[in-house]
Amino acid sequence: MRIPDSKIEEIRQTANIVDLISEVVPLKRRGKNYIGLCPFHTEKTPSFTVSDEKQIYHCFGCHNGGNVFKFFMEYHKISFIEAVQELAQRLGIDLEFEGEQSSEKQSEQELLYDINTEAAKYFSNILLHDDEGEIARNYFQKRKIKTQTMRVFGLGYSISGWEHFLNFAKEKNIDLEKAENLGLIGRASDGRLHDKYSGRIIFPIFSPNGRVVGFAGRVIDERDKGAKYINSPENLIYNKSRILYGLSFSKDEIRRLDKAIIVEGYMDLISLYQAGIKNVVAVSGTALTEEQVQLLSRYTKNAVLLFDADTAGEKASMRSIELLLKRDFDVKIVSLPRGEDPDSFVNNYGKERFDELIIYAQNFLEYQTAYYESLGMFNDPSKMAEAVRELVKPIALIGDELKRTILIKTIAKKFNLREKLLESELANALVKAEKQIISEAKIRERDSEKTEKKIEESLELNGTSTLYNLEKEIIKLLYEGNGEINKMIMENLEIDEFYILAHRKLAEIVYEAALNNEDLKVSSLLEKIEDESLSQYVLEITFDKYSISKNWEKLNPTLKTEASLIKYTGDVIVNYKMQKIDLLIKNNLKKIEEAESEEESLALMRQNQMLEIEKRNIRKFIQTKNI
Ligand code: UTP
Ligand code: MN
Repeated sequence: MRIPDSKIEEIRQTANIVDLISEVVPLKRRGKNYIGLCPFHTEKTPSFTVSDEKQIYHCFGCHNGGNVFKFFMEYHKISFIEAVQELAQRLGIDLEFEGEQSSEKQSEQELLYDINTEAAKYFSNILLHDDEGEIARNYFQKRKIKTQTMRVFGLGYSISGWEHFLNFAKEKNIDLEKAENLGLIGRASDGRLHDKYSGRIIFPIFSPNGRVVGFAGRVIDERDKGAKYINSPENLIYNKSRILYGLSFSKDEIRRLDKAIIVEGYMDLISLYQAGIKNVVAVSGTALTEEQVQLLSRYTKNAVLLFDADTAGEKASMRSIELLLKRDFDVKIVSLPRGEDPDSFVNNYGKERFDELIIYAQNFLEYQTAYYESLGMFNDPSKMAEAVRELVKPIALIGDELKRTILIKTIAKKFNLREKLLESELANALVKAEKQIISEAKIRERDSEKTEKKIEESLELNGTSTLYNLEKEIIKLLYEGNGEINKMIMENLEIDEFYILAHRKLAEIVYEAALNNEDLKVSSLLEKIEDESLSQYVLEITFDKYSISKNWEKLNPTLKTEASLIKYTGDVIVNYKMQKIDLLIKNNLKKIEEAESEEESLALMRQNQMLEIEKRNIRKFIQTKNI
């Protein structure tokens, strides 16, 4: 769903961040802000600050901060869209009927969802009530699936034959071409249409929000020719690498337990869920994809992989482990007894035995060691080196250095190897992993780290420098959300004049928003800052963490009228420009001392004269503008 910006703006304006945060974090008033114990890290003295006036929050301990949407995303571990939806619902703002905004593409999607929903209802009805559904009811009974479970997962049956569903579709005036695109109907070479899932039990596939995006159909009779499962083809609403089967049912439990069990099959998920193990998702048919990992990471960072005990399952585990580690997951692996899959295991041994499996899950390193051991790699000294190299590889994917060190120690101990040897192996792997990460477009995160460093460096280098402080003050003023002030700064300072790169980037965002007549409140602007470290920086200066505005408070100890703020802005701009020119003049004076020819020093002197004139002009200019 695409939510129009106007709606997001409406929500932002209606929501009160202090009220919403107080529901979950006790807040106390301090000055014009509110403070409390940070919900994002453990602390004894409050450094979590909320501004009623600016509608933003920031923690000076862990640096988490942002507007009301960001708080909801972080606190509830949900996506931006989910945060918008949640807030809209709370505030009674209707997101549904956006007539003017609904593009053609969106309504096309809606039509496809509608067809899938109709079809799902049709198949489910047959399974639950139709005489023709008996064969499927018997099948599910044999597999120990209860009627209630069939209802929960919307399971169904497609009657054997060519045109049962086709006739239903015609009766319901369903667009047959669309049904064909959705893979519900097939077309023979002579052009005749026929049911696609004929004689199969049906698993509707849901989006995380619970809409039917596709189907899987399983043969009932193992002797049937054709694939055991067929799946919807990719289409406008179904992208299989972005779907985790069962997530719409399990996401709350995953969040609650802060752990997700990942299984392979539809039936695995359904049987576990029925047995009361509800924090499960199924990758179903594909190897775990990067998109699936990303999707899951919204709900938890703890994964237990539970793949079939066959070689395909083992291979899948190895790949999945790497993907999960790369996204900072804590990864555990359960090996099932040979011949079992999660569905058969829970049916044969029950929930308690299953829970034990999860509790005693191996960490990925133990699992991988056992895997290479089973390949006999530790018996052969030449292969042993290779095995150790393979073991070190995934460790390089872990971002946390402490964790890496602990794991290296574990391997060293286990194989009686010198730690130094492993460390150099790790260093190699780190270089490789880094290359891979960069090539996989993680550049952005790295960039933001660099920016942060740059800001820190400039803080150290220029922390005492007046120029730096003045520039920071200008950024702070730009983020005050006052149109008058912004106009004044924009008229007197070009983007390129900002001396520090981070400041230039931040100024650019405000300048652009102002040019487009967009909202200039910091709570809106924050959303435009892609770089996490930059938005942190804005939050810190907004909340007066540093000495910013000491001058301003000295200047106006009590009275902070808009007029005085505007006058102050003028002072800052003038001071800033003067400082810059003074710096140039000073530089030139140094050069004059070192000049090798008279000509050169004369030129420099002339330059300085010009600069002095410029200084005078600035003073005059500002005076005539009465600022
Ligand atoms: P399995 O063959 O292990 O089947 O495939 P299963 O899940 O245990 O199913 P049951 O218990 O025999 O009914 C694992 C998963 O791989 C996908 C399906 O998602 C299946 O659940 N798969 C398998 C396909 O998509 N197509 C196939 O032909 C086979
Ligand atoms: Mn199975």
